[in-house]
Amino acid sequence: MAITQVGVVGCGLMGSGIAEVAARSGYATVVREVSAELVTKGRGRIEKSTATAVEKGKLTAAQRQEILGRMRFTTAVEDLAGCDVVVEAATENPALKKELFAALDRACKPETILASNTSSIPIIELAAVTRRPEQVVGLHFFNPVPVMKLVEVVKTIRVGEAAIATARAFAESLGKRPILAKDRAGFVVNVLLVPYLLEAVRLVEQGVASPEDIDEGMRLGCGYPMGPLQLLDFVGIDTTFYIAEILFEEFKNPHYAPPTLLRQMTIAGLHGRKSGKGFYSY
Ligand code: CAA
Repeated sequence: MAITQVGVVGCGLMGSGIAEVAARSGYATVVREVSAELVTKGRGRIEKSTATAVEKGKLTAAQRQEILGRMRFTTAVEDLAGCDVVVEAATENPALKKELFAALDRACKPETILASNTSSIPIIELAAVTRRPEQVVGLHFFNPVPVMKLVEVVKTIRVGEAAIATARAFAESLGKRPILAKDRAGFVVNVLLVPYLLEAVRLVEQGVASPEDIDEGMRLGCGYPMGPLQLLDFVGIDTTFYIAEILFEEFKNPHYAPPTLLRQMTIAGLHGRKSGKGFYSY
């Protein structure tokens, strides 16, 4: 299937990255946020990121204008009607995502492939609220989207081979490397990554080492670009907490149980970089 127009639902950390990469890859991109205020914030994020790319000589000012010119922002789901692929990147909340998928199914043309960037919710739960489960896939990007090369393409028990082939080709057209995963909470990467991040929080809780030393341990000892607590602040304390809850619900394995400290930081608004404070201050 030929893709010319891409929709992105949600213009937060992930959605703005996905929208930017889509527009940079030449697609007419429609971005939907829930309010005018969030549209302004999301658009600002993309303007800033593309301005940095110009400063670094990765884009010319004219290319940046072309990219921004390919993007349209809206608060109406109906404006995504003509998109060939829609990637949903809303908050990691199953009820909210189901509502969105039902709305997207009503609004979009019959051929549209509906994809979710969820990190942990089984895609079949979203497919099941639509009349097109054979066209619903997972497309899981990684933060920062313009930099990270991976996309997990998630295959449900109802999806058609054609939709999977289109999703893979779409990921490749964005300059990404797709890997295929079965539709199980956490797919591949988060099943491995989340217990590691939670264990780092437990080390802090138990006073085994300071956040700085834990991070230095993994950076210098294992060559990771960021330590686990830095990464938690980067991904979002709240986001990781929600992912852990979903994984724990699915597997009932204590490895995935969110530690008390993570829960309390989420409640307290210590969400990491985006809120100015998490394990570190920004
Ligand atoms: N947008 C665009 N480009 C960015 C960027 C952003 N937000 N952040 C960094 N970059 C680019 C920089 O421009 C720079 O490019 P050049 O080398 O071409 O100049 C390059 O990335 C490296 O950036 P920096 O030199 O500023 O900083 P760094 O070397 O410390 O790298 C990093 C930053 C790429 C984020 C690196 O620290 C890293 O890879 N961290 C780990 C990130 C990670 O693990 N992400 C996955 C999180 S899990 C997830 O997303 C899924 C989930 O479901 C939870």
